[in-house]
Amino acid sequence: MKVLFIILLTLFYPLTLSAQYIGSEACKVCHAKQYENFTKYSRMSRSFEAIEKMKNKITPEELKTCYQCHTTGYGKRGGFVSLEKTPHLKNTGCEVCHGPGKRHAETRNPKFIRRKFTLQICEPCHTEERVRAFRFKPLLYGGAH
Ligand code: HEC
Ligand code: HEC
Ligand code: HEC
Ligand code: HEC
Repeated sequence: MKVLFIILLTLFYPLTLSAQYIGSEACKVCHAKQYENFTKYSRMSRSFEAIEKMKNKITPEELKTCYQCHTTGYGKRGGFVSLEKTPHLKNTGCEVCHGPGKRHAETRNPKFIRRKFTLQICEPCHTEERVRAFRFKPLLYGGAH
């Protein structure tokens, strides 16, 4: 029984690791240039401000519906929970596009971070027409990287 437990633990431990979000700030040490550009030029790096502005006008329940698009990893394992518990994930950071970065950051292995993009990654938050129209370019040329 004990052995089985240990086997299961070793099998699934890497999985839990790989699904953790660490926040954009944590990418900064190794990707300073991308970080500076992103925080300087992309509104995604400040997306929580947009919903904070409207905080007083909507109910706490309504506010929660904003989290899925205005924060990082809300509703996902290791993602945003609340401003108090996970302040480092409050904005839509690097990981909404590149995927959870904990394992990549720990290993420095490019294999564990997303580099190939499809429209499906943007679509949960951006409408299909918009995404197709800009084809990633405004963001890149806008200075996100
Ligand atoms: C401890 C250092 C470190 C941290 C922290 C780190 N990375 Fe990396 N990252 C690397 C290294 C090393 C590479 C490989 C660079 C190369 O091959 O030129 C890399 C490569 C990448 C690549 C390119 C992958 C490819 O296939 O070429 C992306 C995208 C990336 N990192 C995103 C991130 C994001 C997003 C974060 C934060 C969630 C992050 N990294 C945190 C070290 C780090
Ligand atoms: C988790 C939700 C989410 C995902 C996934 C997402 N975005 Fe965004 N994006 C936002 C939000 C929210 C804003 C608006 C932020 C604000 O104005 O406060 C935004 C803004 C933008 C903007 C406006 C310009 C700017 O200053 O950033 C562009 C361009 C953009 N996103 C491109 C993309 C692309 C391309 C992808 C897919 C590779 C993507 N986004 C994925 C939530 C997301
Ligand atoms: C389905 C995803 C989604 C949800 C849910 C969502 N937003 Fe957004 N929101 C976006 C995107 C994407 C943008 C950026 C639009 C653009 O620039 O094209 C945006 C932009 C905004 C802006 C304008 C930002 C600026 O910098 O001017 C405000 C304000 C805002 N959202 C507030 C909210 C609030 C409040 C809620 C919850 C009641 C909410 N949003 C829910 C995706 C979403
Ligand atoms: C809106 C989506 C989006 C966000 C947010 C985002 N990236 Fe990227 N990232 C991309 C795209 C698209 C590429 C280009 C991929 C390609 O050319 O193959 C890229 C490429 C990279 C690369 C590879 C080297 C390069 O510059 O082309 C690194 C490293 C990287 N991003 C790190 C980051 C870091 C760190 C953050 C946050 C500070 C971040 N990214 C935020 C979409 C995003």
